[in-house]
Amino acid sequence: MRKNIVAGNWKMNKTFSEAEALMCDILDGLDKINEPLADVIICPPALYLEMGVDLVRETPVCIGAQNMSQFVSGAYTGEISAGMLQSMEVQYCILGHSERRKYFAENDEQLAKKVDSALANDIWPIFCCGEELAEREAGNHFNVVKGQIENALFHLTPEQFSNVVIAYEPIWAIGTGVTASPEQAEEMHEFIRGLVAGKYGKAVADETSILYGGSCNAKNANELFAKPDIDGGLIGGASLVADDFLTIIKSF
Ligand code: PGA
Repeated sequence: MRKNIVAGNWKMNKTFSEAEALMCDILDGLDKINEPLADVIICPPALYLEMGVDLVRETPVCIGAQNMSQFVSGAYTGEISAGMLQSMEVQYCILGHSERRKYFAENDEQLAKKVDSALANDIWPIFCCGEELAEREAGNHFNVVKGQIENALFHLTPEQFSNVVIAYEPIWAIGTGVTASPEQAEEMHEFIRGLVAGKYGKAVADETSILYGGSCNAKNANELFAKPDIDGGLIGGASLVADDFLTIIKSF
């Protein structure tokens, strides 16, 4: 269902006590917001998921993982399955983040399997897509994003697809301080919604939450979220500072 969503991707940051303090600061801050206009998802490192789930119980905040295995169980040293996440009451999982694609060689085929495994275990994917700077400069950005979405998601049934959140994250904007302009982001979000409409129909497309990610911060979130096809953000750096993350949540 289409919702405004602000998701914090903590990546590989914070010790346990720092993570616990950040989680508590965010929850305290959220308590003071009368009616948050967005659903909030926090994606801490896997080791801290249990702490996160315990702290958000009785609050509207959801906990997400940053990655999971495509395999069900067995001899996959170091991996975590969707079933394990489900058993820990984790509700979302970021899949296909460009850092996973770049540093851990994740490809569309593998991601399609991860998406399937997540959905089979009632974990809602936050599926990331986005182009490199060179691809944008070559005018190929729409094609790149189209391929990523078609290859990893378009085998799903409409019912399955309706549980997927899409995050458009231009790689050149991630962690660089260079944000896509609201117009550049909106143009791609509109394109993505059109793609979804072409495959699943307008009703499904209108119900899909499409988040923007890439140097989205307390200062620029307002302008980005004002665009009709931008339903919130996947926030990296700015989600590590409680006040900034709370300001972003209030930016609708
Ligand atoms: P950033 O990261 O906000 O630090 O640019 C976003 C992301 O990678 O999800």
